[in-house]
Amino acid sequence: MSAGATGDTLCFFVNGKKVTEKHVDPETTLLSFLREKLRLTGTKYGCGGGGCGACTVMVSRYRPANKSICHYSVNACLLPLCQLHGAAITTVEGIGSTKTRIHPVQERIAKAHGSQCGFCTPGMVMSMYTLLRNNPQPSLEDITQALTGNLCRCTGYRPIIDGCRTFCQQEANCCQLNGGTNSGSKEENPEETPLLFDKSQFLPIDHTQELIFPPELILMAETSSPQTLTFRGERVTCVSPVLLEELVQLKTSNPEAPLIMGNTKLGPDFKFKGVVHPLIISPIRVLELFEVTETTHGVWVGTGFPLSEIWAILKKLCRQFPEEKTELFRALIQQLRNVGSQQICNVATLGGHIMSANPNSDLNPILAAGNCSVSTISSGGWREVPLNQEFFLSFGKTVLRPEEIVVSVLIPFSRKGELVRAFRQAPRKECAFATITTGMRVLFSEGFRVVEDVSIYFGGVGPKTAKAVQTCATIVARPWNAETLSQAYEVLVKEFDFPPSIPGGKAEFRRSLTLSFLFKFNLEVLQSLRKMNVIENIVVENMEPLPGEIQLSQQHFQHVSKGQSDQDPVGRAIIHSSAISQATGEAIYCDDLPKTDGELFLSLVTSSRAHAKIINVDVSDALLLPGVVDVITAKDIPGKKTRMFSGYDEEMLAQTQVSCIGQIVCAVLADTRAHARRAASAVNISYEDLSEPIFTIEDAIKRSSYFEPRRKLERGNVEEAFKSVDLVHEGAIRIGGQEHFYMETQSILVLPVREQAEFKIYASSQSPTSVQIAVSETLAIPANRVSCHVKRLGGAFGGKFVKTVILACITSVAAWKTNCAVRCVLERGEDMLITGGRHPVLGKYKVGFQKDGRILAADIQIWTNAGNAVDVSIFVAEKILLHLDNAYNIPNLRGRAAACRTNLPSNTSFRGFGVPQVACVIENLISDVGLTLQRPVDQVREINMYKGPSLTHYKVEFSPENLLRCWDECKAKSDFCSRRIAVDTFNEQNRWKKRGLSIIPIKYGIAFSEGVMNQSAALVNIYQDGSVLVTHGGTEMGQGVHTKMQQVVSRELHIPMSKVYIGETSTNAVPNTFISAASFGTDANGMAVKNACQTLYQRLEPVRQKNPKGTWESWVSAAVMEKISLSATGFSRGPDSYIDWDKMEGQPFPYFTYGVCCSEVELDCLTGDYRTMRTNIVADVGQSLNPSVDIGQIEGAFMQGLGLFTMEELKFSPCGLLYTRGPSQYKIPAVCDLPLSFNIHLLSDSNNPHAIYSSKGIGEPTLFLGSSVFFAIKDAVAAARKEVGLSGPFSLDSPATAERICLACASPFAQV
Ligand SMILES: Cc1cc2nc3c(=O)[nH]c(=O)nc-3n(C[C@H](O)[C@H](O)[C@H](O)COP(=O)(O)OP(=O)(O)OC[C@H]3O[C@@H](n4cnc5c(N)ncnc54)[C@H](O)[C@@H]3O)c2cc1C
Ligand code: FES
Ligand code: FES
Repeated sequence: MSAGATGDTLCFFVNGKKVTEKHVDPETTLLSFLREKLRLTGTKYGCGGGGCGACTVMVSRYRPANKSICHYSVNACLLPLCQLHGAAITTVEGIGSTKTRIHPVQERIAKAHGSQCGFCTPGMVMSMYTLLRNNPQPSLEDITQALTGNLCRCTGYRPIIDGCRTFCQQEANCCQLNGGTNSGSKEENPEETPLLFDKSQFLPIDHTQELIFPPELILMAETSSPQTLTFRGERVTCVSPVLLEELVQLKTSNPEAPLIMGNTKLGPDFKFKGVVHPLIISPIRVLELFEVTETTHGVWVGTGFPLSEIWAILKKLCRQFPEEKTELFRALIQQLRNVGSQQICNVATLGGHIMSANPNSDLNPILAAGNCSVSTISSGGWREVPLNQEFFLSFGKTVLRPEEIVVSVLIPFSRKGELVRAFRQAPRKECAFATITTGMRVLFSEGFRVVEDVSIYFGGVGPKTAKAVQTCATIVARPWNAETLSQAYEVLVKEFDFPPSIPGGKAEFRRSLTLSFLFKFNLEVLQSLRKMNVIENIVVENMEPLPGEIQLSQQHFQHVSKGQSDQDPVGRAIIHSSAISQATGEAIYCDDLPKTDGELFLSLVTSSRAHAKIINVDVSDALLLPGVVDVITAKDIPGKKTRMFSGYDEEMLAQTQVSCIGQIVCAVLADTRAHARRAASAVNISYEDLSEPIFTIEDAIKRSSYFEPRRKLERGNVEEAFKSVDLVHEGAIRIGGQEHFYMETQSILVLPVREQAEFKIYASSQSPTSVQIAVSETLAIPANRVSCHVKRLGGAFGGKFVKTVILACITSVAAWKTNCAVRCVLERGEDMLITGGRHPVLGKYKVGFQKDGRILAADIQIWTNAGNAVDVSIFVAEKILLHLDNAYNIPNLRGRAAACRTNLPSNTSFRGFGVPQVACVIENLISDVGLTLQRPVDQVREINMYKGPSLTHYKVEFSPENLLRCWDECKAKSDFCSRRIAVDTFNEQNRWKKRGLSIIPIKYGIAFSEGVMNQSAALVNIYQDGSVLVTHGGTEMGQGVHTKMQQVVSRELHIPMSKVYIGETSTNAVPNTFISAASFGTDANGMAVKNACQTLYQRLEPVRQKNPKGTWESWVSAAVMEKISLSATGFSRGPDSYIDWDKMEGQPFPYFTYGVCCSEVELDCLTGDYRTMRTNIVADVGQSLNPSVDIGQIEGAFMQGLGLFTMEELKFSPCGLLYTRGPSQYKIPAVCDLPLSFNIHLLSDSNNPHAIYSSKGIGEPTLFLGSSVFFAIKDAVAAARKEVGLSGPFSLDSPATAERICLACASPFAQV
C-alpha cells in the first residue's frame, strides 16, 4: 500500500474532459459522482441496484495488448468510481445537446415518440448509443438485447424500438414503418394512413462526429508502467494491485477482504444489506485473470473476463471447432444470453459469478454438469478444483479457502455422443433470476442408446447449486428409453425436497419445473438419437422456443380534416414538447435541481412491526454519526399532525402506535444522503406488539375490519331473477396489487425563503395545490406563504398524490425547524415499502344465465385490501361499483364493495382507480359462463353487450354505438374469426404448446364523480416579443398534457406552437387546482386554457381590426402601446358530476371512452412461459387532439395492464414485510414482453361534445385491455386442460404468473 493517508489520485475522462480526483472514497459510485460532483444530472437514479438501466453510461477503455478501444454500457449506480482509472466515460450529455447538435439516437427516440415522462430516456439513449458505437448497423435482435436492462414504465417500448430500428440496415430499405401494414390483417392503403413520424427527416448517423478516445489515456496506457493504487474513504479502503504475486500477498494477509470485480454481487450487498468491508481488493488490472489458453481437453478462460466477453470468446470457439466439440460452449452461450442485462454482463465476471455461489446462478449448474474446474492460487500455490456438487456449500460459500483466488476456469470440449443442454424459467424472460435453472449432460457410446455418463445440476432447488445424484444414478448404464425416464422422474421427485418454506416459495412449481426440464431434455436427447440413427420410428414433439421476433406494427389514425390550416396543430402527431430535452438529459426533474448552500438531506425511519405500541425511539446513536444534524419527530410539527381522508385521520409521523411495517416514525437530517441513510438505520425503536395483525382480505372479512362506508349499487331484482334462470354459477377471482414503479422515486425539495415564514416547495407531485394546503396546515402558516412548483414528474400513475403530500409535509417541518433547504428523495426500496400501490381485490360472484348465454342476474361482492390507512380507498370502492357492468347490459345486477382495513402499507390511487380490477372480475364471470356452456367466450360477451339506447346500472342513458363499432372493427382488424380457427388447429397439433385468443372490451367513465374536482384554471401571458407563457393546473408526468395545451393555445391564438412555452405548474401562478388524474387533465385544463386564450384573442380584436394584415408580433406590440392587458386567467367549472349512494343513481361521468383489444398468446405448458404474439387495439378517443400522444397512452397503459394481469407480483413476509422492494424482485414488463405485433387503431369519425375539440380522455381506460393477454392465456390453459380431460370453469388468479399458468395447465408433471 504505497499511497499516503489520502490515497492515490484517480485519473479518467468524462465526456472528453479530464478528471483527476485526489480523494476517492471507494464507496462512491460513478452515478453519485456524475450527479453530485460533476452536476451531470442527465444520468438518472432509478433503483441503485443494476435493475432498471436509468443510470446507463458508456465506458471506453484502451487495450494496449491489441491496441484497440472497447466501448461498453454499464450501470453507473453499481460502478465504483475507484475502478475507473484510465477509462473514458460518456454520458448522455456527452453525445449531443440542444445547444450544439443533438445525436441521431437522441433525435430518433424523441421523434419516434419514445419519450413520455423521459426519466428512462437517457439510459435508453446510452444503451442504444453504445450498441451503435460497436455495431453501426445492428439487427433488431441486437437492439432488443441492448435494451434488455432498460425499463420504461410509460411507453410500452414499441415507439422506442421503432425509433431505434431506423438504424437497422433492413429497416432502412423498408418504406412501411409506422402506419405501414404488416400485421396480416386487411391491407390499408399506406397513402391514406398518416405517419407518426417521418424517418426521411432524421439526421444521418455520422461516426466522425463522436467524441474520440482521449489520446492522453492511450499514452498513459502505453508508456506508464501500472502501479498499485490505493483509495481511502471514510469507512473503506480499496487496493488495486497489478501483479498476481501482490494480489496473492494481499489476499493472504487479508483473507476476508473481498475481490471487487464487476461489483454486481458486492455492490447490492453494500447498498441494500449495509455490508461494510474495511478493505476491498480490486484485481481488475491483474493480467493473469484475462488469459485464454486452449488445451486438448478444452479452454482455460480467465475469471476476470466479463460475461459478455465470455460469450464472445465462446462464440468464436464455436466457429473454430466442430459442432460435436462445442456442445457445452453452446449451452453456455444460451444461458449467458439470459443472465442479467447487457450492462450487467459487461461488468459481471466469470470469477465473481462462480464465487458468488448464488443458488439460482444460471451458469454454475451448466458449468458443473459440463465437468468444468477452476484453477486457484494462494500463498500455498496453485491447485485445480472440480466444479462439482462438493464445490458449492451454501449461498455465497464454496469449498475454496477465503485466501484463494480463482484465476481461470477450464471449459472442456464435448465428446462424440455427448449432449449438453441448459434450461431456465424466470419470472420474466430476460433480466430476472431464474426460479429453476438447470444444466444437463449425457454421454452415449457411439451408436448406442445406453447412457455412459450423465450429469444433471439444478439451481433454485435449495441453498446451493445441486446435483441430482440419485436421478443420475437411475439413468446411467441404462438405455435412454421411456422406462428409464419414468423411473428417473420418480426418483427426481423424491430427490429434491421442496418444503413450503423454501426461499422464494413456489415449492409445487419448482418441483414441476425440475420434472419438466428433464422431460424437455428427454425430447432433445430423442431428437439427437434419431439424428444419430440410434433410434427410429419415434415421433418426438419439437419444442421450439417461443417465438420472439418483433414485427412492424401498425398505428392507425385519421388525417385532420382537409380544410384545417397547416399551422393548426390540433389533431396532428406532434412530439412531446420536452422529448428532445429528455433525450439529451437536459430535462430537469426534482432531484436534478442544484444543491443550495447548507442544504440537508432527509432520510425516513420506518416501523419494523405491523401492529405495535411504540415504547421508545432512541436516536442517540444516530445523532453521534458523522454529518447528522437533527431528528424530526411528530413533536416537531408546529401545526396539524395528521391528514384527514374520508373522515379518518392519518398521522404523518407515528407517535404512539404503528399499524404497518413501513409506517413513517421519524426522519433523520444530515449533510449528505449517505450520512442521512446511515443515521436512519441507527435509530433504535422499541415496540410492544399489539393484537394479531391482519394482512389478508380473508382475515379482514373474518374480523370485520373495514373502512366505512361500505357501498352498494343495485338494479332490477337479483333474487327473483336467480329463480328463473336456466343455470347458476358461483365463482371467484383474486387480483393482486401493483406497484406504481414510476421511474423517478418520490422527490421533494423544500427551500425556506427565511422571511415571513415563506416556503418554496419543489415536488414530484401530481397535485401541487394539495401539497401547498397540507404544508401550510402542517406548519400552521397561511397558504399564501407556501408555493409548490412542479416542472415535470418522472412518471406518477396515481402514486404521487396522497403519499407525496405526506412526504412534503415532513420535509417542510425539517426545513422549518432547521431553517435550511431540505431534500428528500426516496430510495427505490423505501418508495416501494412506504407508498403502497394498486388495491388487491377479491371478487366473488354468483351469476344466473340462460342456455343461450344471456346473463340475467349477477350478484358481485368486491373486497379491496386498503391497508392501514383509508387514503382514497372509499373512492376506489365507489369507482369499482360504477364500473361493475363494464360493457354489459345485465338487467339484474347487484354489487357491493368494501375497503378492508389491514396492517399492510396503505394502498392508494393507481391508473384506472379500481376499474381494471372490477372489469377483470366481470370478464372472468363471463369467461366462466362461456366455459360452463362450452360456448366461445367472445360470443357470450357479444350476446350480453349493451346495444342500442341503453341505461347504466346507475340509471344514466347512453349510446353504446362506439363501443360496438370498436368491437366490430377490432374483430375485423385482428382477423379474429380466422385466427380462432388457426389457434384451435394449432392446439390440436401440439401437446405441450398451446395458443390462446381473447377479445375484451372496456367502457370507461371519464372525469371525477365528485364534481368539485373537475374544475380547472389557467394563466396565459403574452409577452412583448409575442412569445406566450402558459401555466395551468395540470402536471406533466409523461402523459403529454403540456404538449396538448400548447396545441390548444396555438389553435386559439392562431400562432405556431413554437411561440408557446409551459415552464412549470405552480400554485402561485394558478391557484386552487385539483389533481392531474382520472384521464381528465386535458379535458379540464384544455377548457381553462382555451378560455384564457379566447379572452386574450378578444382583447386583441381592436388592434387586429386596425391592422388586419399585421403579424402576431405587430398586434402584440400595438396592444402594449394601447395599454391592453396581455395576461388572462381562464377557468373551467367542468362537469357537475355526482352520485347519490342512497338512491343508487346519479351522473358520475360526462362520457365514456371505449376500447376493444384482441390478443393472442403462445404458451409453453411445461414451464408456464408465454409470449404475446399479437395485439390489436381499437380505441375510441373521440377526435384525437394528438394521435401520437394518445397512441402512446394506449400502448403504455396496455403494457402496464399486461404487467398487472400477468407478471407483477407483490410478496410479503408472514409478518407483513414487503419482500419485493426493487426491480430484482418485482418484475415490470421489459422489452422482452412487448407483443410481437402491436397494432393500435383509433376509431375514426368519433365525436364527443363533452370535451375539448371533441376529444376524449385516454390515460387510464386501456390499462384494463392488458387483461386480454390474461384471458388469452386462460384460453390456452383451457386447451391444455382438455388434453388431460378437464373442462368447465377453472380458477386462475391474477397475475397469471408462470407458476399459476403451469399449475393450471395440470400437466402430469404439475400433478405430482
Ligand atoms: C441486476 C442483476 C441481474 C442479474 N441477473 C442474473 C441472472 O439472470 N442470472 C444469474 O445467474 N446471475 C445474475 N446476476 C448475478 C451476476 O451474474 C453476478 O452478480 C456476477 O456474475 C458476479 O460477478 P462480479 O464480477 O460482479 O462479482 P463481484 O460482485 O465483484 O464479486 C462477487 C464475489 O466474488 C468474489 N470473487 C470475484 N472474483 C473472484 C476471483 N477471481 N477469485 C475469488 N473470488 C472472487 C468476490 O470476493 C466477491 O465475494 C445478476 C446480477 C444483477 C446485479
Ligand atoms: S439506477 Fe442503476 S440500474 Fe437502476
Ligand atoms: S418514458 Fe420511459 S419511464 Fe417514462
